Amino acid sequence: MSSEITKYPPGPTYKMPGKLIRQFIHDPIKTLSTISQKYGDVAYFKLGPKQHVYLINNPDYIEKMLIYDHRNFKKGKRLQIAKSLLGEGLVTSEGDFHNRQRRLIQPIFHSRQIMTYGKIMTDYAIRFRDRWKNEDTIDISQEMMELTLGIICKSVLNYDVESEAKQVGKALTTTRNYSRRLQSPIGHILDKIPILPAPRGARKAKKELDSLVYGLISDRRHHQQESDNNHYDDLLSRLLEAQDSNLAGPAPPSSGGAQSSNGKMSDKQVRDEVMTIFIAGHETTANALTWTFYLLSQYPDVEKKLHDEIDSVLGTIDENGNDVSKIPTAEDIPKLQYTEKVLRESMRLYPPVWTMGRYVENDYHVGEYTIPAGSSILMSQYVMHHDPRYYKEPEQFNPDRWTEEFKARLPRFSYFPFGGGIRGCIGEPFAWIEGTLIIATIVQKWTMRLIPDQRIKLDPAITLRPKYGMKMKLIRRKS
Ligand code: HEM
Repeated sequence: MSSEITKYPPGPTYKMPGKLIRQFIHDPIKTLSTISQKYGDVAYFKLGPKQHVYLINNPDYIEKMLIYDHRNFKKGKRLQIAKSLLGEGLVTSEGDFHNRQRRLIQPIFHSRQIMTYGKIMTDYAIRFRDRWKNEDTIDISQEMMELTLGIICKSVLNYDVESEAKQVGKALTTTRNYSRRLQSPIGHILDKIPILPAPRGARKAKKELDSLVYGLISDRRHHQQESDNNHYDDLLSRLLEAQDSNLAGPAPPSSGGAQSSNGKMSDKQVRDEVMTIFIAGHETTANALTWTFYLLSQYPDVEKKLHDEIDSVLGTIDENGNDVSKIPTAEDIPKLQYTEKVLRESMRLYPPVWTMGRYVENDYHVGEYTIPAGSSILMSQYVMHHDPRYYKEPEQFNPDRWTEEFKARLPRFSYFPFGGGIRGCIGEPFAWIEGTLIIATIVQKWTMRLIPDQRIKLDPAITLRPKYGMKMKLIRRKS
């Protein structure tokens, strides 16, 4: 700690050591929300003798940290363990190597590129909606997890989890469950909780996935040599093609993955990015959709307005009783403006990534305070998104609040479900397109109602999940 620190921001102090940490583990969202309401823009608390935590509740400070001063903040040690599964992918790498990978991969995720995956998204959503039966009860959380996993597998590897490789789906689910424990956004401030080595199941899953991904890489490389690569249009092929004009870019810090001399990624790097996209690219969207369907079931007026938009954009039943609705496509998205607002407002109330943490590299000045090197900072989407300074009636689900004027007035980081800056979500365009198309495709045919004894409780693990799942009864809108 720097010796110059004379003034700590306000925050909770307890005579009984351990009380705050217990509260924090038991209900981190409530703890952070209470601290922010009580202590304002920058709050300070200690979790144990060496854990100095600064909770940042001011959108301008968050913007400065994520956009302008990001070099001073690191994701930290805990990621080292996630690396055993994900390798040096975008989520786990830092510094120059991360920046290079980011530059290389960013173009693949531009909206224009991602629109080509719209058909996969709706094909899979149709598969799910068509196998549901009227009045059935489903766990929409589970369904959305499987749906988004299917979509990401098909988009990245051109692999159909259901028909071609059920074991791939299982291996990915095991890997996801394990890596979730490693990547917890508050993990870095709860470092005392021991991290166990990967259990046998996770190691086996990793082996299976590695063998699949390396096999496909070698297959694609073979086709590339035969100039036959146009045959594939999945993200894997695009990753193999991605080329950095700066050929002398840094090699990854870990051994065994040296960059190829032509500015393209080595097999190991491609494998790490594929695994990263798998893990980062489906649970978040699944949660966003789960909470959206929950909210729609609670707000019939919003649901009615959504139905009206979807029916008017995509068609409905004609005067002779024939279903003349069409399957949504990525080109329809600009017309599905209310659908987009519904998703936006749902991610405000239930941000899938509910908080982000960083370590401070060098003493950092924020407002009237200096945050010493070695401290932890937290920026919580959940806390900011519920702040009455920015959102009138913050607990209300009100998609109509998202007018262009409102968006223009809002400080940029009072709404940041995708983070921001060089470490912001690379998959954001993918998530918007996927989320909007899935909502439209499912709502075209189905309404959902929560079953009477369903308990709703937040489970703020790495993503914000419903603790007891989300069982809903299906009601068919039209055949
Ligand atoms: C609603 C859906 C999603 C949400 C809310 C979300 C949120 C986020 C957030 C907040 C971060 C930044 C974390 C931090 O700075 O600590 C992030 C990073 C990331 N996301 Fe997403 N994400 C979503 C979907 C996706 C999808 C669909 C993909 C891939 C297809 C993806 C891939 C990634 C990757 C690779 C990173 C690491 C970026 C880097 O550090 O350079 N995400 N995401």
